[in-house]
Amino acid sequence: MSIFRKKSLPDLLEESRAQGEGTLKRHLGAIGLILLGIGAIIGAGLFVRTAAAAADSAGAAVTISFIIAAVGCAFAGLCYAEFASMIPISGSAYTYSYVTMGELIAWIIGWDLVLEYALGAATVAVAWSEYLNKFLHQTVGWEIPYAWCHSPFQISQAGEHGIINMPALLVLFLITLILIKGIQESALVNAVIVIIKVAIVLLFIALGWQYINGTNHVPYITQAFDYPPDANGAIKHYAGGWMGILAGAGTVFFAFIGFDAVSTAAQETKNPSRDMPIGILVSLAICTILYILFAHVLTWVANFREFQISGKEASVTYVIETYMQNYSWLATFVTVAILAGFSSVILVLLLGQSRVFYAMSRDGLLPSLFGDLHPSFRTPYKSNIILFLFVAVFAAFIPGEVVGDMCSIGTLFAFALVSVGIIIMRRTNPDAPRAFRTPFSPIFPLIGAGVCLAMIYGLGWENWLRLGVWLALGFIIHFGYSIKHSKLNKTLQELFPTFT
Ligand code: ALA
Repeated sequence: MSIFRKKSLPDLLEESRAQGEGTLKRHLGAIGLILLGIGAIIGAGLFVRTAAAAADSAGAAVTISFIIAAVGCAFAGLCYAEFASMIPISGSAYTYSYVTMGELIAWIIGWDLVLEYALGAATVAVAWSEYLNKFLHQTVGWEIPYAWCHSPFQISQAGEHGIINMPALLVLFLITLILIKGIQESALVNAVIVIIKVAIVLLFIALGWQYINGTNHVPYITQAFDYPPDANGAIKHYAGGWMGILAGAGTVFFAFIGFDAVSTAAQETKNPSRDMPIGILVSLAICTILYILFAHVLTWVANFREFQISGKEASVTYVIETYMQNYSWLATFVTVAILAGFSSVILVLLLGQSRVFYAMSRDGLLPSLFGDLHPSFRTPYKSNIILFLFVAVFAAFIPGEVVGDMCSIGTLFAFALVSVGIIIMRRTNPDAPRAFRTPFSPIFPLIGAGVCLAMIYGLGWENWLRLGVWLALGFIIHFGYSIKHSKLNKTLQELFPTFT
């Protein structure tokens, strides 16, 4: 049997139409999708990873990192939009690649999307925990002890060791319950949170502008140096220069993750071929503008070096409390809004992941329980529960920056493959109806893939290694389980009983 066997596009579309009873409910329109997109996009990437990218590698020039990441996302986003308008079926990049590049690549992408969605949710849950502690400090003057809100691989400035991140576990658990109950209710909650989230970003930009300190942006591009040793004697290196900006782009790329989650909701969309491209591209455009302004103000008000020490955790609250004291009321408001905002991101990411699992189990690449819908809620509840257990392990025991960069590299890899997929699809199915076409193919898809690969390069060898290990694990499962249980395999065997 060929590991590159493909699903045919007409079969796939027919399958989606024929599913009838077993399918998910269709109730989302273009606005609903844009809200779903922004709900997934603005989160820990902006409110936590921006400061980390500035402190570790890009300095004030983290804004340039954002521009590079946005360019990669925009070109890949056009490819996503074309695919989503052609193949409006749950499963996003996984489903697209099944048609264009065959089962093995589809498996790799589906497996890779676990890094994006599941580890993305874990990263945001860890960030949620940081802001929860700030909130407790602001309101009741008490904080959760370091050991109970950090991973065992983290040590505080004062030398305390982490044990487990309990708040991260709690938020994942609560959101899993909401998802099991159903997306209808979740979409409403999401819409309210998105409005609050955009409001605080705008407020921070407008008010922070009054507190800028020009010297923080001189020089704009800082060259490499070592930070002084911390309390534990560890020396942190600042990458700096253009390589630092590229590394920063890989890190803040996390802030854009989620726009593609829109495409995983295709089967719940009323008019997917029109609304999908709108949902993806509009949510991406709005966030890009907000991010560049936000990063500019954040590193203009505080010096990026502070994000290595006192402003390392919950950096936005830190900047407001330290430099914008006339607006100290804002600090608590922002903290609460960020907590709510992070919750909406976790919700969309977990939702996206369970939809990808749903698609993979429908194809037989994962056990059928991932596709079982709840009899009354019509949600893939078993998948949600298994996903919770998996994500919880990462959120509880691995530091946010490690999980965050794993998430970025996995997603970048998937984006690069999706971009190449458009070029292939134009050749294999040139006449298939497309409500949206990526302009200037193959140039735009190639730019998308190229920029994503450059960011992968910027993330460094430790992350390449993690991606390699993850993919190797995926191959073991694929050749051990999926290849034998694939529905395509069954179809071929029914037609040709001697075919192996
Ligand atoms: N883009 C999402 C965030 O920044 C994943 O939290």
